[in-house]
Amino acid sequence: MPNDTRPAVLELIGNTPLVRVSRFDTGLCTLFLKLECQNPGGSIKDRIGLAMIDTAERDGRLKPGGTIVEATAGNTGLGLALVGRAKGYRVVLVVPDKMSTEKILHLKAMGAEVHITRSDVGKGHPEYYQDVAARLAAEIPQAFFADQFNNPANPLAHECSTAPELWAQTNHDLDAIVVGVGSAGTLTGLTRFFRRVQPNLGMVLADPVGSVMAEYSRSGTLGTPGAWAVEGIGEDFVPSIADLSSVRCAYSISDEESFDHARQLLRAEGILGGSSTGTLLAAALRYCREQTTPQRVVSFVCDTGTRYLSKVYNDQWMTDQGLLQRARYGDLRDLIARRFAEGGVVSVGPGDTLLTAFQRMRLADLSQLPVLVDGQLVGLIDESDLLLSVHADASCFRAPVSSAMTDTPETLAPAASLHELEAVLDRGLVAIVADHSGFHGLITRFDLLNHLRKTLT
Ligand SMILES: Cc1ncc(COP(=O)(O)O)c(C=O)c1O
Repeated sequence: MPNDTRPAVLELIGNTPLVRVSRFDTGLCTLFLKLECQNPGGSIKDRIGLAMIDTAERDGRLKPGGTIVEATAGNTGLGLALVGRAKGYRVVLVVPDKMSTEKILHLKAMGAEVHITRSDVGKGHPEYYQDVAARLAAEIPQAFFADQFNNPANPLAHECSTAPELWAQTNHDLDAIVVGVGSAGTLTGLTRFFRRVQPNLGMVLADPVGSVMAEYSRSGTLGTPGAWAVEGIGEDFVPSIADLSSVRCAYSISDEESFDHARQLLRAEGILGGSSTGTLLAAALRYCREQTTPQRVVSFVCDTGTRYLSKVYNDQWMTDQGLLQRARYGDLRDLIARRFAEGGVVSVGPGDTLLTAFQRMRLADLSQLPVLVDGQLVGLIDESDLLLSVHADASCFRAPVSSAMTDTPETLAPAASLHELEAVLDRGLVAIVADHSGFHGLITRFDLLNHLRKTLT
């Protein structure tokens, strides 16, 4: 394979479309979204991946055979891996452990080496992801530490590509840009460009509740950072490259509001964005609705929602996190992760084969399934039942579930106490919640742990 030509995928970075938001109330304003999710790596960070690597090659910090190292919340890693691997470099990434599985799998699929570190420690802690990356960069020979938080090529990429594209796409008629801050590369690059061409343009900050950026931009005071679940934006410190001089106002958006807006955008406009898209959209709508004169406003779909299918777009996860409200009963039904009444139960019938039972368990990552007939519980089948049936003869996978299930499982009424629940779980069993009205769901030890975690203050 000739490797002296520029990889084709690099030509696909940038020049992303701009679309008008039409299904939301934007008050007197017109709101546009720039679809950065359409970059080949799925996010705005492809732009800086390309810019940081090209610049490092030009100034000799990255040579053939070299290694690119970065601390990244995921998307920058994807951009660097996309460009770096296409150009033949080794790519080593340090990722905090709150990042979605999809991002990590994507990084690995492209051939990046991923080191996962703690997301619950701050700057200066030896396990903080940026400190780990700096250490690795010092240890690996011929390493280039991309260091998006301090690399001038990061804001320059936005000054030279994102900003002029926006200016052309809006026919040189734009009043405000709603943006989040991760490394602040986007904010700073846009600020520098628009200061020259449209000095009256205001930047509007969309910041997760818990991040220090919004308050810092308003008052210059650095509050105590909290925790937030939105990925890619929000900071517990002010990045050195942050230029806040054009910030007109800032909104702090809760995880709940962010995730809800990401889901609304998909339903209303058919645009599948990441969690931060929800933060940006929520802030943009607030800004638009507060204006008393018409303005043209732009925000971003910074990354694709396909990498958040197991989070933002997964009702189970959303409920678990307390981000989606569901019916509360004040009894054991509140501990059931997958409720029958909500269509959440994965089950089998007594006439299904053991192979079907096994495949459903594997697909849903469950170790037991209720056996149901018309919503009534007739049995329970778990891994041990399956193993006992098939260990001597795999053809028994074709036998019916009824031949292997426990057909008189013990049940607990919803009104049973936590103490009774614990007694069942202590015996190594899963608790089956059922009463005269039928089967409600299962409670495992993991569900009880999850319930107890939620009571943590
Ligand atoms: C997912 C995501 N990544 C990155 C950014 C911008 O990051 P940075 O400040 O590093 O340019 C945003 C901004 O909204 C974002 O939503």
